[in-house]
Amino acid sequence: MKKNLDNCKKEILNDISRTISFRLCSIGIDLGLFEDISINGPSSSKEIASRKKYNERYVREWLYGISKTGYIDFDRKTRKASINDHYSELFVSEGGKNSFKGFFKVINNMMLPYENLISSFKNGGGIKFEEYNSEFWKGLDLTGCSRYRSFLVPEWIDQVPDIKEKLNKGVKFGDFGCGTGRSAVELAKRFKNSTFFGFDKFEPNIEEARINAKASDVVTNTFFQVWDADEGGPNDKFDIAGAFDLIHDLPNPQEGINAIKNSLKPGGIFLLMDIKCTDDPIDNDDPMALFKFGASLHFCMTTSLAYNGIGLGTVGLPFKKVEELCFNAGFENVKEIDINHPINSLFQIS
Ligand SMILES: C[S@@+](CC[C@H](N)C(=O)[O-])C[C@H]1O[C@@H](n2cnc3c(N)ncnc32)[C@H](O)[C@@H]1O
Repeated sequence: MKKNLDNCKKEILNDISRTISFRLCSIGIDLGLFEDISINGPSSSKEIASRKKYNERYVREWLYGISKTGYIDFDRKTRKASINDHYSELFVSEGGKNSFKGFFKVINNMMLPYENLISSFKNGGGIKFEEYNSEFWKGLDLTGCSRYRSFLVPEWIDQVPDIKEKLNKGVKFGDFGCGTGRSAVELAKRFKNSTFFGFDKFEPNIEEARINAKASDVVTNTFFQVWDADEGGPNDKFDIAGAFDLIHDLPNPQEGINAIKNSLKPGGIFLLMDIKCTDDPIDNDDPMALFKFGASLHFCMTTSLAYNGIGLGTVGLPFKKVEELCFNAGFENVKEIDINHPINSLFQIS
């Protein structure tokens, strides 16, 4: 149906408002404003500013603005703001199923190297890892923390009994593109008989992974090491290999899967988690589609192109492509596990 001009305008104005809403939420998360109100209950801008040692005028303007999003209630009489339990869980909690903190940090910070992105449109190339600030990586750490602590380890692993059984008995697990180690750490907490080896190209991630392992008391069954998928497999063999949100980012995904295949012992299993998508990118119409294309332009495709890669993109790994890459690498079976998640898909490959 053809929309009239007024409806088009409404849509765009709504987008503009929601962009500001997104930004105010990011400020509230980064400055601990939601957290402060959640801990201390109904508070005035003066009380918040005094506790946080912020400029009161800024806090007051933020409170007026954020109350228009509906995420914070503002009492006109007392001039106090409060947050309900649902929004506390969404904005303040870490590692839970409903924690959105990491999401906000990732999106807000991945959009910062804007000039670099504009320049890449004109000149090709892309944005390298070190051009993103540390808060971007912190955001990825938090999203990983939620996904592995609340989904992969307590739920999805139970849907792949072959893997669960091996992990219970005690095996060597290689976690390729481990980031800050959240998947390896959460797996190590549950499967104490197994040993987890995490590999990642970006050295600060490896350092953070070691810190996360220490904080979770799993230093005896986790090991982390810098590794670049473009340089082949590590000098070790594993019973199970995992790649969680790695392959679509790789400059050369085929080389990456070849390296993973070569690192497996005979009969080894490859657990691949990547982004849920359709064969033709334009057919991605799910509620997260816009987010996925945004993430692709601002990070996934763009970092791959920065390292002279093919730029597969966030929605570049549908089932058919997974099969193609895995069969080329010498795997024989690709089975998709039904995890019913809005962003991720999971495959058991052997
Ligand atoms: C989207 S992050 C996922 C990190 C982690 N698996 C998670 O889910 O939280 C992709 C990771 O792949 C790593 N990476 C990208 N290219 C790589 C390469 N060529 N070799 C090894 N790791 C790479 C990045 O450093 C980053 O940590």
